[in-house]
Amino acid sequence: MNDFIYEYPTKVFLGNGMVTTHLMDVLPILGDRIMVVYGGGSVRRNGTLNEVLSIIKGSGRVYIEFSGIMPNPTYSKVQEGAKAAKEAGVTGILALGGGSVIDASKIIALQTPNETDVWSSEMEKNGVLSNTALPLGAIVTSSGTGSEMNGGAVITNEEKKLKAGLFASAPRFAFLDYHFMETVPDHQVLSGAFDTLSHAMETYFGSSSFLNASDDVALGVMRNTVKNIRRIIGNTHDEEARSNLMWDSAMAENGILKVGRFTDFEVHQIEHQLGAYTDCNHGEGLAVLQPVYYRHVYKSAIEKFAEFGRYVFSVNESDDALAAEKSIEELENLIKAMGLPRKLTELRMKANPEELLSDDNLRAIADSTNILAHGPRMLSHDEVYEILKECL
Ligand code: NZQ
Ligand code: ZN
Repeated sequence: MNDFIYEYPTKVFLGNGMVTTHLMDVLPILGDRIMVVYGGGSVRRNGTLNEVLSIIKGSGRVYIEFSGIMPNPTYSKVQEGAKAAKEAGVTGILALGGGSVIDASKIIALQTPNETDVWSSEMEKNGVLSNTALPLGAIVTSSGTGSEMNGGAVITNEEKKLKAGLFASAPRFAFLDYHFMETVPDHQVLSGAFDTLSHAMETYFGSSSFLNASDDVALGVMRNTVKNIRRIIGNTHDEEARSNLMWDSAMAENGILKVGRFTDFEVHQIEHQLGAYTDCNHGEGLAVLQPVYYRHVYKSAIEKFAEFGRYVFSVNESDDALAAEKSIEELENLIKAMGLPRKLTELRMKANPEELLSDDNLRAIADSTNILAHGPRMLSHDEVYEILKECL
């Protein structure tokens, strides 16, 4: 077990109807002038935006709206939000959306009170401003990323063609209320659930000792995620399964699986750059990459893959090498059963896939991918390129 300090900043409300019964209680955290941040309009169409605004109004507070946060949120959009928040003298931010809205809100909350540019401070000068952010709360409308319980924000800098994780402050409160997630399209429910599984796998396959408590918790979260994914295939409105997946999602990214160990997250690094070039859906991009990456590296962590296969997929194989191979097959079978894309060309993208997945772009994606040190083994940029080619 590595040494660690763990502190938990987010108060979580999980349950259908929790926003109606409890949002009012936590609004004082955000002060008197609240910016409500949301995406491309789903919350307007399904009526949840109005529900939230009337609760804020009923509390006697002033709100302004900031909308149009896109999936794979851009840094220029976040800067636009911070400018609007500054001009309106906002005292706190309420994110109403999925991972993209919550991530964008984190950086709006951080940039608003700071003159220093967040990207250049964090990415170019190694300075973190996070303790100065405006208070933030989140109402999750699409679960999977776990962004509601951590301080990371994944933002795309279009000019630099980089999609990167910035450090900000975690939300002070988070609502996981099924009522707000009822209208999420099936493909997004499933891609979010795969993202959750990916987070737990990427944590588990980082380096740790077999006695590590976090590994056993990760195995439990992965098994539960797979069990509930199987329940929602063909029936995404199974509220019980969706609630479990919401908590799996939060557990996978709230840091608890990461204490006392190193993490991998190489697939996320590749997917983020894939997203920077193609604007693909995050969970779907991971589903294409993850099995191919694991076939490249599993021989350096046979015992761990075998344990994963036996515990998460009930692989009944006493030989470790065979159990490890079978675990990757089971992962592929799950992805297939979920109906997620299995090739890069099947991903939904902003433009013509052939153009976006040109050899030059794949090379550029590979060369701009962060190479991390704590997976089963370290990749080279050339091997990332090979992985991308195999995913075509
Ligand atoms: O924009 P609207 O109209 O709201 O539509 C969204 C969007 O098109 C829609 N949606 C959300 N709630 C809905 C709904 N549609 C109908 N009804 C609802 N209730 O879903 C679409 C996708 O939303 P998005 O927020 O982009 O999805 P997700 O939650 O998967 O977030 C993905 C982003 O999170 C980042 C990813 O990189 C990506 O940018 N991540 C953030 C992490 C973190 N901060 O911890 C960790 C993750 O690994 C991930 O990298
Ligand atoms: Zn993810």
